[in-house]
Amino acid sequence: MPSRNLPLAGKQVVLGVAGGIAAYKAVEVCRRLEDLGAAVTPILTASALNFVGLATFRALASNEPLVDLFDSSDPIPHTRLGRTADLIVVAPATANLLGKFALGLADDALTTTLVASGAPVILAAAMHTEMWLHPAVVANVASIRARGYMVIDPDAGRLAGGDVGFGRLVDPERIVEAVLGVLGTEGSMGPLAGRRVLVTAGGTREAIDPVRYIGNRSSGKQGIAIAKAASSLGATGTVISTVATPAIPGFRLVEVESALEMHDAVLARLDEIDVLVMCAAVADFRVAEIATSKIKKLQGVPELVLVENPDILLDAARAVRERGLSVVMVGFAAETDNPLANAREKLQRKGVDLLVVNDVTEEGAGFGHDTNAVWILGADGFQQRVERSSKDVIARQLLDDVVELLGRSRDAGAAN
Ligand code: PMT
Repeated sequence: MPSRNLPLAGKQVVLGVAGGIAAYKAVEVCRRLEDLGAAVTPILTASALNFVGLATFRALASNEPLVDLFDSSDPIPHTRLGRTADLIVVAPATANLLGKFALGLADDALTTTLVASGAPVILAAAMHTEMWLHPAVVANVASIRARGYMVIDPDAGRLAGGDVGFGRLVDPERIVEAVLGVLGTEGSMGPLAGRRVLVTAGGTREAIDPVRYIGNRSSGKQGIAIAKAASSLGATGTVISTVATPAIPGFRLVEVESALEMHDAVLARLDEIDVLVMCAAVADFRVAEIATSKIKKLQGVPELVLVENPDILLDAARAVRERGLSVVMVGFAAETDNPLANAREKLQRKGVDLLVVNDVTEEGAGFGHDTNAVWILGADGFQQRVERSSKDVIARQLLDDVVELLGRSRDAGAAN
């Protein structure tokens, strides 16, 4: 039984091992993660078995190692592991594994689990120098990083066959440190530890033609502040963003552009979250038909026909109710007149638990600023004013209210 005081106590970690000479170091990574309290499930590729034996992982890991999807007693082990993992760490991540993950290919137990998971992923790369420097591998690593996953560069040193150069898997200690950085001490003890939070940030862009779009002034600052605060309180999760977003420990970044893309990205993740915060400024309308080439001025003033976008929050709240999920739903409202009356109506219509209202005509509030001033309204009639403060402070206040609501739903669950 792992001690509750261990920094990774209660964490489910999938340890992927791909086929490279450095696979032997994964054994040490497995042992250290277990020593820190994690329950490790090793997933080995078929070629990893040429370098390390299953018996070793069986002896060290809490959970049965997996190699072949079809040999498991569980009919769908990859989706179960993908959903329950707090983190997936792959060591070593070979050129082949990185290439497949960059493309979303899923043809064995490890790659299907990676693609089936919303958990944060750390890939510790290891391969020959020429492979690491190949333009295709460089592009694959860049695309993986752009999606918010962590790739640990290999070290320089002795490689297989006696060569010396870049490509050596970093020491197990570095890999374990990276895991601790994501799931580590503060996180494992914070009030949102073990909770998965989905935050949307930024304004959607609705294409008119290949160069123009309808957009709004949202900078993403408020949404990013919420994801950062959630991370520091122990949550893991996803930021679905239309703007450049820094890496946030424990959070995966999904970039989208339009309301329709954001709609699909949010709705696809409802089963794996405890909290949804819709901070994004979503365009209510999009252009009915996007021109395939640039609209020329000489063609005269274009007539743009708009159609309504789906309401993401409304659809998400409905899906949560219909599927009997337990998700704390938080909306935002950017108002210019009668903020409280309009927001109360919005809170009820959208069926959310909390609504954060900013009167964007107030000095230092709303779009683009580093500060905000809000009311937080609850479905139960709760109302709280937070005077102008940094978006980090607003985020923290909101998450305190979310923690309170999560506690209440847990108590209600226990009483039933
Ligand atoms: O990004 P910043 O520059 O930091 O600015 C922060 C902010 C002003 C964007 C943020 O504080 C804010 O108010 N976000 C919500 C803006 C908005 O779209 O408000 P709304 O009243 O139009 O929408 C109400 C809610 O429904 C929002 O949670 C919105 O995400 C959601 N919505 C709206 C339309 C739509 N089609 N689908 C939605 O889900």
